[in-house]
Amino acid sequence: MDREVIIPMTAHRPLLDVRDLEVAYEAKGGMFRKRMTTVVKGVSFHIAPGETYGLVGESGSGKSTTGRAILRLADIAGGTVTFDGTDVGAMGSRTPLSYRRDVQAVYQDPGASLNPRHRVGRAVTDALKRHGIGDRASRRAKALEVFEQVGLTAAHLDRFPSEMSGGQLQRVAIARALVLEPRLVICDEAVSALDLSTQSQIINLLMDLQKESGVSYLFITHDLGVVRHISHRVGVLKLGELVEENTTDALFEAPQHEYTRSLLAASPSSSPEGRDERRAARQQRRVAVPSALRQAS
Ligand SMILES: Nc1ncnc2c1ncn2[C@@H]1O[C@H](COP(=O)(O)OP(=O)(O)OP(=O)(O)O)[C@@H](O)[C@H]1O
Ligand SMILES: [Mg+2]
Repeated sequence: MDREVIIPMTAHRPLLDVRDLEVAYEAKGGMFRKRMTTVVKGVSFHIAPGETYGLVGESGSGKSTTGRAILRLADIAGGTVTFDGTDVGAMGSRTPLSYRRDVQAVYQDPGASLNPRHRVGRAVTDALKRHGIGDRASRRAKALEVFEQVGLTAAHLDRFPSEMSGGQLQRVAIARALVLEPRLVICDEAVSALDLSTQSQIINLLMDLQKESGVSYLFITHDLGVVRHISHRVGVLKLGELVEENTTDALFEAPQHEYTRSLLAASPSSSPEGRDERRAARQQRRVAVPSALRQAS
């Protein structure tokens, strides 16, 4: 069943509106003149308040680059990105603090963005400090509050990253993003490195947090099963172009574009049944391997 978006009465315009977005990277080998390769080619989509928009496509299709342009980590070469009515491309070289607060990101490898020498609670209190929020004591209290919200405890605040599991580190990354009360979180392969059960815990957590706070997600992943579960609507990127977009149910049940059909065909995990089948198949393989080895030896 499609996830229902509860759009507040005041939401007369999308939170994020991406129109004809183009992003280019400098190509290697241009000796005299900068040669640019366009990797996002005229992409348009919007995200409503409280909505999760899934962005899927093969590796290299431009998913992360689209997210980076919204975060102002990649230049907008063409088109516009509008956030709550403000032209993001026209913000000037220094991204306003308010935008850096409103739009947060959660990546695949939370460990990489945490200082290994700092206790993880500090990632959260430092984020508050950077934005000039609270004093030392209230930041610590806020960190605990948000840790509990994401399923961690007071004891976790003083751990080092190396003392935590991948799922716990991802909870820290989510806590750090959410403590700033963002309006949009860009989740780029945020659950891709986790095992299946941790994956579903984190996805459920993200969905619960959305229900509580009304935050929007741009959910970037190559995993169609995950995107089907969490998204209200889905866009399909192929070589930098958005070839199809629809509500999640419609897209999975009646894909219109040949490319979407081939993505679905290549991904048994895109249906819950398929996912179970795949898991069962994996378990069978695991059991089958030792006997195969025995035969071989
Ligand atoms: N910093 C960069 N400089 C030059 N080219 C880049 C850079 N980052 C990405 N690219 C190229 O841009 C294209 C899109 O990359 P992008 O990382 O957006 O893809 P993606 O859809 O996120 O892929 P994946 O699923 O592997 O994460 C690719 O061809 C990639 O090689
Ligand atoms: Mg990527």
